Amino acid sequence: MVSTTPEGLQIRPRHLDFDLPNPLPRHWHSGDAFKSHLFDAMSVLFPDGERFFIDSVRQFRDQISDPALKEQIRGFIGQEGHHSREHLEYSNRLRELGYDITRIERRAQARIRYTQKKFSAKRQLAATAALEHITAIMADGLLRDPKHLQGAHPELIRLWRWHALEETEHKAVAFDVFNQVCGNRKLLRRAMLMGTFFFVLDTSRGLAHMLKRDGLLWNWRVWRDGIRWMWGKEGVFRPLIGTYLDFFKAGFHPWQHDNLELLYRSRAEFEPQPV
Ligand SMILES: [Fe+2]
Ligand SMILES: [Fe+2]
Repeated sequence: MVSTTPEGLQIRPRHLDFDLPNPLPRHWHSGDAFKSHLFDAMSVLFPDGERFFIDSVRQFRDQISDPALKEQIRGFIGQEGHHSREHLEYSNRLRELGYDITRIERRAQARIRYTQKKFSAKRQLAATAALEHITAIMADGLLRDPKHLQGAHPELIRLWRWHALEETEHKAVAFDVFNQVCGNRKLLRRAMLMGTFFFVLDTSRGLAHMLKRDGLLWNWRVWRDGIRWMWGKEGVFRPLIGTYLDFFKAGFHPWQHDNLELLYRSRAEFEPQPV
């Protein structure tokens, strides 16, 4: 049974620089408001969310003696820290377009503060492991199926694919730390239900805000096409239902979804090209 990150898989941050268009085209994804703002709404949550993930794992760092996992934790922290910085830049571009990003950030920060104050360190880590599963299955979808980003601005495609690749590389790190220091599956499942609820809520609120500013909140065509794009036959989220639910199975581990080959294939995009 798969129970750790595959041996030999290196988790190292790539210090890439992204040259995000300035100003950011409002509808950078195929001229489509819904698609662009769904990605935007998730992106705005990342800087604070990923810092929370880092803090949650860091609290247990000293309890881990396995040198391989210790090394993976270092890679995980490096990758998430870098994601956080790049997505902050992205948030600033959105702010410059007139969206109230600060309000969305404050809401996320208040929730994180509450979680850190009221919940035990183990529950915080469980929430991290759960949310990392959500990011991992979305990342797999993005890497596997280029059509999800087809027609988008090339630099944003690069940013999202880079993030998706690194989420795949470190998808089991928080989970493995949780397994070593706690392992309570009931806690993990509860954290997943709660994490899913707030992730969907916050993303939807961000999306609705940006559509409202664009004057498109009540445009039924935008919603019809958007919902079809998410949940229709070829929808982005539809294939993720099964892998999402696998998290609730006894003995689940993120690497039971073996996408190592996809990972190595995607890595080639970010390897320095011969001159
Ligand atoms: Fe990340
Ligand atoms: Fe992550």
